[in-house]
Amino acid sequence: MDGYIVNGGRPLSGEVEISGAKNAALAVLAATVITDTVSVIDNVPDIYDVNITLEILRDLGARVEKIGKNSVSIDTRSVDRFDVVHEKARSMRASYYFLGALIGRFGKAGVVLPGGCNLGPRPIDQHLKMFKLLGCSVEGEYGSVTVSTDRLTGGQVFFDIVSVGATINGILTAVRAEGLTVLENVAKEPHIVDVANFLNAAGADIRGAGTDIIKIRGVKEFKSVHYSVVPDQIEAGTYMVAGPATGGKIKVSRIIPKHLESVSAKLESVGCTLEEGDDYIVVSPAKTLVSTTIRTMPHPGFPTDMQPQFATLLCTANGTSAVYENIWDSRFRYTDELVRMGADIHVDGKVAVISGVPRLYPAQLRCWDLRAGAAMIIAAAMAEGVSTITDIHHVERGYENVVDKMRALGLDITRADIQ
Ligand code: EPU
Repeated sequence: MDGYIVNGGRPLSGEVEISGAKNAALAVLAATVITDTVSVIDNVPDIYDVNITLEILRDLGARVEKIGKNSVSIDTRSVDRFDVVHEKARSMRASYYFLGALIGRFGKAGVVLPGGCNLGPRPIDQHLKMFKLLGCSVEGEYGSVTVSTDRLTGGQVFFDIVSVGATINGILTAVRAEGLTVLENVAKEPHIVDVANFLNAAGADIRGAGTDIIKIRGVKEFKSVHYSVVPDQIEAGTYMVAGPATGGKIKVSRIIPKHLESVSAKLESVGCTLEEGDDYIVVSPAKTLVSTTIRTMPHPGFPTDMQPQFATLLCTANGTSAVYENIWDSRFRYTDELVRMGADIHVDGKVAVISGVPRLYPAQLRCWDLRAGAAMIIAAAMAEGVSTITDIHHVERGYENVVDKMRALGLDITRADIQ
């Protein structure tokens, strides 16, 4: 089985360049279908989930050409299918973006019901509610979903909960709908703004992305654009935590520091020192790492996708920390791995209480999901001695060149066959 062997115990330090954002790229790539033209997208991370999305685009009939490691040209004029049946679509949550992307072009769209990381139940009721409010009928809510309409019409959608996916799907659906759509109680993550920026550059009329209300006036014609995906704030945050967790000083570059405000503030509150430039942040480790409380929230709150990595750092902080997970029902399974490394963690429902210990010890670790996998690399780097990490396909879904980047920061990590 593919895995990582990590000989930890040394500080990670130096500079790391951040890739394009996975969750923005997945939405922007799906959005190219709506435009019915040729798009060139740069800063696309070369990761498993992106490659599956490109395969889905090809299956639908798009002409997809990689024009560099991180650039892709996508001609969606030749798209002639409205259903996503790719066997791997089910393994990727973001495949549901093709519902929103295809409905405006064909009046019909279908996908096999998405899965993704193991984060507990992942309902899509808010997506389905939005489709219905914009004039669609929805069939087969289990196993696969088909959405169809004779006339896609603008409408008013108030989401019951703040959902990244439902917000993006709402934007995708409304850009070609007749008239005005108003989406309320929407998510404000940088990738929401990114997909809106891409579509606006291609001729859409979307206002308010990044605020609580998004207004979209449907248009019929789009033009070719050359667009660059935003930097990945979660990848950046992961390295910002990996440095101080191992006592090292890290510079993360090619980022938008504003996207990382909640993570930066937490790092300062545990004793780290930060220096911020236009497109970089330098994190110096704390003299004494202190405990804190974390509550995951929709953006601009502390991101759930940084929760496992930050909780790992807190394992060796002085005092007792509390980590509240408010987004996903099941995002603490990785804590069992940390406990086997000597961490003192008690999970009760939505909260993990972490009492700091002087050090972590090496162990055989597994990745439970993408971000938990990143946390395992950080934990193994913190522990002096050799740890192994299995189920690394989770990590490689979302972190570009993670082994090379970690190595460049001084981590002794090797990808190997682990029995
Ligand atoms: N929810 C519903 N009904 C819905 C949609 C969501 O109840 O119709 C619930 C979810 O069960 C969850 C909460 O609302 O409890 C938030 O879910 P959201 O829809 O915002 O999440 P998502 O769009 O499925 C994206 C990211 C996740 C990230 C979340 C939250 C992508 C492809 N995925 O998922 O990223 O955790 O937003 O920020 O963009 C990751 O990258 O590791 C990852 C899991």
